Formats: sequence, structure tokens, C-alpha cells
Amino acid sequence: MTIWEYRKPALNLKQVHQLPGKYFGLKTEELKLLPGDRSQNFLVIDESNKKYVLKVSSAFDRTEELDFENQVMILLKRYLPQYEFPQPLSTIEGRLVAECQINGQNYYLRLLEYVEGYYLSDLKSIPEKLWRETGTLLGKIDLVLQDFFHPGSRRFLPWDVQNLLVSRDRLKYVSEPELRRQLDYCLLQFETLVLPNLSILRRQVIYGDGNEHNFILEKRGPETRLKGLIDFGDMTESYLVAEPAVALTYALMKSDQPELTARQLLASYSRINSLRNEELDVLFYLILARLVISLTMAAWRREVEPGNKYMRISENPARRLLTCLLSQNPEKWRRLFYRACGFQPDSLFLQKEKLLAFRKTHFSPALSLTYRRPLHIVKGAGQYLFDSQGRTYLDCVNNVCHIGHCHPRVVRAVTRQMAALNTNTRYLYDQMALYVEKLLSKFPRRLNFCFLVNSGSEANDLALRLARNYTGGTEILVIEGAYHGNLTSLIEVSPYKFNGPGGKGAPPFVHQLPTPDPYRGIYRGRSEKTSEKYAALAAEIIDRLLSENKKLVGILAETAMGCAGQVFLPPEFLKKVYALVRKAGGLCIADEVQVGFGRLGHHFWGFESQSALPDIVTLGKPIGNGHPIGAVITTEEIARAFATGMEYFNTFGGNPVSCAAGLAVLEAIEEEKLQENAKEVGNHFLQELRKLQKNQPLIGEVRGSGLFIGVELVQDRQTKIPASKEAALVIEKMKTQGILVSTDGPARNVLKIKPPLVFTRENADLFVEKLAEVLKALK
Ligand SMILES: Cc1ncc(COP(=O)(O)O)c(C=O)c1O
Repeated sequence: MTIWEYRKPALNLKQVHQLPGKYFGLKTEELKLLPGDRSQNFLVIDESNKKYVLKVSSAFDRTEELDFENQVMILLKRYLPQYEFPQPLSTIEGRLVAECQINGQNYYLRLLEYVEGYYLSDLKSIPEKLWRETGTLLGKIDLVLQDFFHPGSRRFLPWDVQNLLVSRDRLKYVSEPELRRQLDYCLLQFETLVLPNLSILRRQVIYGDGNEHNFILEKRGPETRLKGLIDFGDMTESYLVAEPAVALTYALMKSDQPELTARQLLASYSRINSLRNEELDVLFYLILARLVISLTMAAWRREVEPGNKYMRISENPARRLLTCLLSQNPEKWRRLFYRACGFQPDSLFLQKEKLLAFRKTHFSPALSLTYRRPLHIVKGAGQYLFDSQGRTYLDCVNNVCHIGHCHPRVVRAVTRQMAALNTNTRYLYDQMALYVEKLLSKFPRRLNFCFLVNSGSEANDLALRLARNYTGGTEILVIEGAYHGNLTSLIEVSPYKFNGPGGKGAPPFVHQLPTPDPYRGIYRGRSEKTSEKYAALAAEIIDRLLSENKKLVGILAETAMGCAGQVFLPPEFLKKVYALVRKAGGLCIADEVQVGFGRLGHHFWGFESQSALPDIVTLGKPIGNGHPIGAVITTEEIARAFATGMEYFNTFGGNPVSCAAGLAVLEAIEEEKLQENAKEVGNHFLQELRKLQKNQPLIGEVRGSGLFIGVELVQDRQTKIPASKEAALVIEKMKTQGILVSTDGPARNVLKIKPPLVFTRENADLFVEKLAEVLKALK
């Protein structure tokens, strides 16, 4: 048993009944078990109906610690006589702690006066005045204890936020992957933002357990006031700011106006015992830390003490609060804490205007910014982004941070590997084999060779080289509206670019198939018939090329189209076209850069949804959750044919850090069942959007699969004239509502929804609610 895996005594009433008499000379008339965390607590009522609390501690607690608690209770009573604190009573021998043995086990006994009254937790709704009073009392206690020292105060308590890192070990007891991710995210924030600053924080003895079960109230006339405090078992020498952090954690769990409560509690605390800037800077993360401790302790306790309900008392509210705080900007809270303590918050970031001016001076205007008033994003967590002003945004656009912003698994994998080794593919290293083995396991057996590159663009460029080399061909088929990357070779094969503003049209070797768009394409409807009609057009082009004695490289196509406006190809379209291309000696390249890795919900890869088997697959964006990686997956034959004598060297492609990121992404998708989440949440999202469509004529079509969704806005459902202006307005207005979404399609009239896969039903509901409001206001 490690030092923190203590055990509470488990005596029964019969064993305890004679103890008050034997050690404290008290005649026990009634004995009842009370809740308690470390000690076993009993309510003792004597013959004169007076109440006491008998605390039975196990021998794991040192006597110095019990004496420490006793001395503090005595001290507080002396210095804060207006409040009540349980006072320890002497044994028959005149000591404050008795030692006894039951069934060969040693126990320590203390008898405390019972503080009459009722608990703050008994109130259904806690008035702000009482939160203020708790802040005041804790401030006063910490002021009294400022210079107090006792040898028993240096003790290890797992609840103490300074011991948070011990919780990392307990994460394994948390069975739910989503919760484990959230907790690990908090640990990561603590490690990076709090840990390096701990040495500048003030330390002293603190009470350390300001929760609503410990504050005692009394009624005085019409008024309820805070009368006192009980349970000194969590006192320890720690960081002073941990005191308000713990109290705020519990207050936020209980309050229905969390910001107001936090402001009041902290303001009253700091009015008595002023906090410093550096303490306020870490306060938010210490609240998260306390939640991590509560929830990991609860998970651990469930494992070792399945029957202990007391320990799990605050588990559900803690979970709710954790989810809520992780969806809020830490900067908002830091500013709130500063203001509550009467300070003006300083700015941690460069000014937005300065950043804008810098861009104008040193970057080409070809690099565009989103939104009329661009965002200055400074942090991310899961599906949320936070700006420098304290605002939070629900990210419904970023399919790069596929498994959530700053996913702890990826961050840890990358940092660990970066600290160990980063080199290139001219050496052997484990990470490459481990990663590629896992990646290839996601593909049909035929696709068993891999090249690792740095982006989706690089992947497509290499795919073209491989195909050109293998076929000796020159001619390539692409689909109108498609985008394949930013390299010269890819602008040439991206109709989205060469047909768009600044584009110079298709080069002679590039042949465009019309977009097989079931909603507004030249052939409509989602049936195989539609696919056949589009495939016939492909056949025409191929026949013409062959008749001109031109040799085909093949087809490069997205498996569900992004930039073209979230277009879902009609059933088995790719399967049919692939057959035609192969017959003509070409290869089939599936661009999975947008939609791969489970986003579509029903399938891990888009080509599977088309029942098609490509020769080359290109991967990018989501593959590294924001770390720049790309990959080309192909057959042995095509990969071997590429070895013409010219070396393929890619300095960064496939480096161990990238491999570590890629592996972490695949593991997280599996462990957190994110493909399944995409399917479930996506279905719900689509259903809600379609409900909205019923009374929103502006919505021409809602289409999607998993968390790849398009909402096409039209001025008229018959004519399908794109509502481009309205779409641009919608994304601006959604931004002001705290939701990020973009537009695409040739007329930029399709709302493009592709959030990180940790997106929830509640997120989807919020999106639909806000979209409904925004569309209504457009009328
Ligand atoms: C379908 C598709 N392929 C390739 C790319 C190029 O990827 P990257 O910009 O990461 O190089 C993109 C980028 O948007 C894309 O959407």
C-alpha cells in the first residue's frame, strides 16, 4: 500500500460503544455513524442529551497530525470567537488523543464537541450572501494560520492540489475514455502552466476543504448566518491559493450562477486576505486540478471500495462542472478573478491590431483571414477555441484537430518523442514501424506500402509521381470543384483553383468530369442511375483520349468532396469510374485528406462508402491532429516500380515525432470510439438540421455523413439560386454567437460543418438553435 492508499477504520457500533466511557468518561446513550472520509466518525449522545463526535483514526495517521488538527481548532476558536469550531475534549488522562487496540489493530480516538446547526449543503439554493460569508471565513482562517507551524502540518494528502500529479497514476481507474481525456487535458494544463510557477506561490497551513458539507449555519431571527466550520482532516501546508481554489470548486458545483458566486466568494476572501497576481493566474487550473483529484479518487475508490458512497458524493456534479469549465475560456475566468480581487487584469497577448498590422507589412494578401473582424485565438480544448479577449467558440470547422484541440494523448506523445529523438528515415527507429503497421491495418490488404510525407499536398504530389511513373501516362481525370493542394503540381489538377479567381484554366493534360452533385449537378438524385450517367461522361472522355493516342495516368478524386461544397458522390460512382480508368490502363487515386479517419461515421475511409478500391490513397489534415504529416498508401507493385534509381528522400517525412503523433491519433480514435461518436452525433445533427429545414426555406438541402455535413442555402428551393450573400452573413452572425462555421462550394453558399470528432449532441443542438436564430433574424 502506498502512502496515499490509506484505509479508513471499519469498526461497528458494538465495538465503539464502550470507547467514549472508557477513554473520555462519557456515558453513551446513543451512538450513530456519521459520514467521514479518512476517519470513522460517530455521533455520541450522552445521558444529558449532549452531542459529541468521536473520531476514530487508523494507525496510518501519525499522532502529530491529529495533534496538529486539534491545535488549529483550539487556535481558531481563540482568534475567531465569533465562529464555532469543534473543540477537542480531554481524555480521562488529560490528553487530547487516546490510543486503543481493537482486535489487535491500533486506533487513535478523539472526542470533539458537536457544533449544532445545519449544513450549507442542506439549503436547496444557496444565497449569494452565504457564499460571501464562506469566503470571509476562509480568508480569516488563512490570516490566522499565516505564521502557524506544526510538525504535523507537513503531510501527504491526496486531496491536496499540490499532489495533483499523483492523480496521473489513478487515471487508469477511470473507465470512460472521454472523461479520461478531459482529466488528462487538465493534468497537461497543470504540468505546463502551473508546475513551472509553483515556486513563486505562497505556502502556509490552509484549511483545504471549503465544501458545503463543512460549513455550519444557524438561523438568527429571519437571517441565516454562517456559524462555523467542521472537519479539519484536510488541513495541510500547501499553496495558499489552494484554499479559495477548493472552496470555489465546490461553490461552482453547487451554484446556478457560477460567475456571480465565484466573484462574490473570491472578493470576500481577498478583502480579508489579499491574493496576488501570480496566485490568480493559476487559480482556474487549480480548480480543474481539484476536479481531477475528486474524479480520479472516486474512480479509484470504486475499484478498491465499491461500497463507499460517501467518497463518490460529489462525482456527478464534479463531472458536470469539469465539462462545463473545459468549454469555457480560461482567460475569461482569469479576468473575472482579477476583477473580483480589485485588480485590473493585464493582457497576456499581443494586441490584435498589432498582429493585423504585422500581417499587412510582412505577409502577402494572398493569405486570407476569416471573418470581417478576424479572430485572435490563443488556446484550444477539445471542440472549443478561446480568443485573447476571454471569448469561447465552438469549433465546427476544424477537421485537422480531428480528435480535439490539444488532445493530451497527442501532445504527450509528441513532447515525449521530441525530448527523446527526432531524426529522418535514413535511420531505423521503432516509431515508424509501430505507426505504419497500425496505419496499414486500417486498409484493405492490397494497400500495404506506405510513404510518409508532411502534408496532404505533398501526399497528392507524390501520388501523381507514383502514378505517372507506373503508367507512363500523361493524362489525368479530375472532378470539377475539386481541390487537391497548394503545390504547383496540384493547382494544375485542382479545378477549384484553376477555374477560380486568379486561376488560369485547366492545363491540356487535365480533363474535368462534371461534379456528380446529386442536388444541383447536371444529373440529380442519389441513385445508382445518377452514378451511371456521370460514369458515362467519364467513359466518353477516356474514349476520346485513347482515340487521340493519349496515355492515361488515371483519376485523382476526393471520396466525398470538401471545397466543392460538401458534395456526397452518388452511390458507387467511384467504383464505376475506377473500373473504366483501370480498363484504360490508368490508376485510381483516392484523396482522403478531408474525410478520412472515421469522420464519415459509417466508414473509416471515404472510398469504402463508395465500395471502391483505389490503387493509391492520400492522407493529410486529420492524420496528426494538427501536427504536419501526410501519407501515401499504395500497392507493393506501384511502390516498387518507383525505385527507378533515383532516391526518394524527404527530410521531415516520417520522422519519429510525426510517427508518434500519428500513432496517438489512431489509438485515440479507437479508444474513445470516435468514429462511432461521429456516426451517432452526426445522425442526430442531420436529423435536427432537417427539422430546421422544414420551416426554413433558405435551407435548400441538408446532406452529410457522420461529422461531415453541408447545409446548402438557396434563395429559392425551385430555382436553387445560391444564397451566397446570406451564407456569408450567416457565418459572421454565427461567430458572434460563439460558433465557427465556414462556407464553400463554387458559389460559397454551402455551410461547411466538420468539427473535431469529440463533438457532442449538446454541441449539435446548440449549433442548430443558434442557426435557427440567425436565419430567423435574416428575414
Ligand atoms: C481534399 C484535399 N486534398 C488535399 C489538400 C491539401 O492539404 P494541405 O493543405 O494540408 O497540404 C486539401 C486541403 O484543403 C484538401 O481539402
